[in-house]
Amino acid sequence: MGDNVIPLADLRYLAPVPRVPDGAPAPVGLLSDRLGRPLRDLRISVTDRCNFRCSYCMPKDVFDKAYTFLPQSSLLSFEEITRVARLFAAHGVRKLRLTGGEPLLRKNLEILVAQLAALRDTDGQPLDITLTTNGSLLARKAQSLADAGLQRVTISLDALDDTVFQRMNDVGFPVGEVLDGIAAAARAGLAPIKVNMVVKRGTNDHEIVPMARWFRDNYGQAVTLRFIEYMDVGASNGWRMDEVLPSSQVQRLLDEHFGLEALDATVEGETAQRWRYRDGKGEVGLISSVTQAFCRDCNRARLSTEGKLFLCLFASQGHDLRALLRGHRPDGSAWTDDEVAAAIGLIWSQRDDRYSELRSAQPADSGHAVSARKVEMHYIGG
Ligand code: GTP
Ligand code: 5AD
Ligand code: SF4
Ligand code: SF4
Repeated sequence: MGDNVIPLADLRYLAPVPRVPDGAPAPVGLLSDRLGRPLRDLRISVTDRCNFRCSYCMPKDVFDKAYTFLPQSSLLSFEEITRVARLFAAHGVRKLRLTGGEPLLRKNLEILVAQLAALRDTDGQPLDITLTTNGSLLARKAQSLADAGLQRVTISLDALDDTVFQRMNDVGFPVGEVLDGIAAAARAGLAPIKVNMVVKRGTNDHEIVPMARWFRDNYGQAVTLRFIEYMDVGASNGWRMDEVLPSSQVQRLLDEHFGLEALDATVEGETAQRWRYRDGKGEVGLISSVTQAFCRDCNRARLSTEGKLFLCLFASQGHDLRALLRGHRPDGSAWTDDEVAAAIGLIWSQRDDRYSELRSAQPADSGHAVSARKVEMHYIGG
């Protein structure tokens, strides 16, 4: 492809080139957006590809052979990602989450993990480095990722029953291999391990109790199972409110079967409400982004595979950071770290996103979500 040809895939979401403010002060980790929210969590998508076709994320009829994924030249390099992460850390970020698509499909990911593990937050502490994976390649990679400096993992798993699981991943991937991946993560010390289950009413809600029982019995406190309300992310999954099972019902079900008691939040801006089994056999989380929005203290930013910064999971526009990383000033020299950091600071200080809160202000059963074309989850990560 010639230099002057812009790959089509790059045009999928609008992303203006950020403005670099003049003479901005150096970052001190105290940014706050228009709603007073700090910046603490950067989620980095390292590939837009996935080997699963979960219907709520990459339905097969949309993401088929004809779908154009991002070309290699569009992806941020590991050096570019590490530079961005370092600048975000200077602004107060303490947690990095690698996502995808499926992040373990990105070649040599361990090298990136090692680079990120060398970064420090504004207090001089290492960052919390974690990864969200579908678990399919984890049995092979858990140990090398831990050796590279990954601290913990979150595995997506929607059912234990093989028929249900294979129908949900829609590529016939067997659940046993994901369970092997979880076991390998536990052996490699990638703790605390979290397992995320997206609950779709009528599809896998009958798997809630079996999943809870299995992780209680086999892992106890070593795995936290979290139940996620099916969300209206993206534009491809044909989301309907009647397929959302409210977390309150999950809580009631688990309470009836096992007995639950509430736990306090541990970290500011946490997505999950935490509960523990009364008999002490572990913890579960409820992520209620549809019925109880948690935008009020949302401190998460998302970096797409080709370097666009998104301030909300439901944004329809990004900010083209890659243009600053690869571009030049009018005099031909590259933008400095201070300049890129100043541009990031300006973007965050103008942020006022709170999509889920606004959505829940609409009638609860209004059917399809109304909005401009939103970013897809396989592209921006969870
Ligand atoms: P921990 O640090 O392990 O607690 O991770 P986390 O809960 O911050 O992140 P994770 O990616 O595991 O989030 C779990 C799920 O919550 C995601 O898969 C999404 O479905 C949902 N989620 C995460 N962040 C957001 C967010 O900012 N907004 C909304 N609406 N949903 C989110
Ligand atoms: N609703 C809720 N969670 C979703 N994920 C992907 N699509 C959706 C959706 N529509 C979550 C899955 C997966 C993570 C990558 O994103 O839990 O664990
Ligand atoms: Fe499924 Fe995650 Fe892949 Fe999306 S990125 S298709 S949720 S495994
Ligand atoms: Fe944050 Fe947007 Fe999610 Fe609200 S909807 S919690 S603002 S990412």
